[in-house]
Amino acid sequence: MYAKFHSIGAFVPSKVLSNADLEKMVDTSDEWILKRTGIKERRIASENEVTSDMATIASKIAIKRAGLEKEDIDLVVCATVTPDYFNMPSTACVISDKLGIKNVQAFDISAACSGFVYALSVAKAFIESGMKKHVLIIGAEKFSSLVDYTDRSTCILFGDGAGSAVISATEDKNEAIIDIHASADGSYADFLVTPAPGAVHPVSQKVIDEGLNFVQMKGNETFKLAVRTLTKDVKEILAKNKIDAKDIPHFVPHQANYRIIKAVGDALKMTEEQVVLTVGKYGNTSAASIPMAINDIYESGRLKKGELMLLDTFGGGLTWASALLPFAGESL
Ligand code: COA
Repeated sequence: MYAKFHSIGAFVPSKVLSNADLEKMVDTSDEWILKRTGIKERRIASENEVTSDMATIASKIAIKRAGLEKEDIDLVVCATVTPDYFNMPSTACVISDKLGIKNVQAFDISAACSGFVYALSVAKAFIESGMKKHVLIIGAEKFSSLVDYTDRSTCILFGDGAGSAVISATEDKNEAIIDIHASADGSYADFLVTPAPGAVHPVSQKVIDEGLNFVQMKGNETFKLAVRTLTKDVKEILAKNKIDAKDIPHFVPHQANYRIIKAVGDALKMTEEQVVLTVGKYGNTSAASIPMAINDIYESGRLKKGELMLLDTFGGGLTWASALLPFAGESL
């Protein structure tokens, strides 16, 4: 039995936070943000719109596009670092309930921006082992809930959104996910960290006073390591599977920073047409970034059945992952 990437769906909140808006909030400029990151604007969820709400809408679309009913789903995996609750119930349980999916295994994955590709690897393993047939995988973030909007080094980067995919069993090797590499190195944990709340820093006045509940990032160090690691990782997965970068119509990188994407794309000698870019309009949506980008090319009619995708991602942990797979859903 093989696993295939059966369908995609996504949701973005309607509220736009532009660089001009951020100029009024912190000491920054549209020119600086655009030049250093490629980001023009990002979406921000409203106060009563939470991670599971966005994920539920994206998931309904993905299930419908797979031609399935909610009763067909036998595993729900949600990748997020902005769960509805820290840390019970899992957001996957909340989403399952909102979708009306009963009595199936549901759990979250915490791998920051690499979460969706990690979830893809879990779905592939469950399906190939014969344990599950239709796995709903989700990358969803209300990242604005972790951001200190007085910290210019982080608040310009992140946005909110959700993307979902159904991964299904197939006997046809031609439509199977080809390969996934997923890895981590915890010695770089302090490059990207939200110190509280958690066992190390339970909620306290100190947490509030020192803003330990907000994301902290060593931006420049993370940037350099991301370029190095991703370039090596994508070259390895292509070489291992004897696929030339020029034969990949859709390179779908994690949308963190245009300069990281460009450096990796250039190292692979990719053309502009091959590289999927949504960072300008959505910023970095962490685990949601890759499924939102896949949805973008699907809805614009660029992603056709059978076409190869190369996914690559990098995030807190530190974690990183890449995947090679054909799109096995029906073209729009
Ligand atoms: N507006 C204006 N100036 C800013 C700024 C902002 N929003 N944020 C930082 N600066 C300033 C710094 O204070 C610094 O000033 P100084 O030289 O006077 O000290 C200068 O700009 C350069 O800062 P630096 O952090 O070295 O910039 P950079 O080129 O590395 O760009 C990031 C910063 C965050 C855009 C970039 O490092 C990045 O994208 N890193 C990776 C982030 C990432 O991918 N994270 C998630 C992984 S999933």
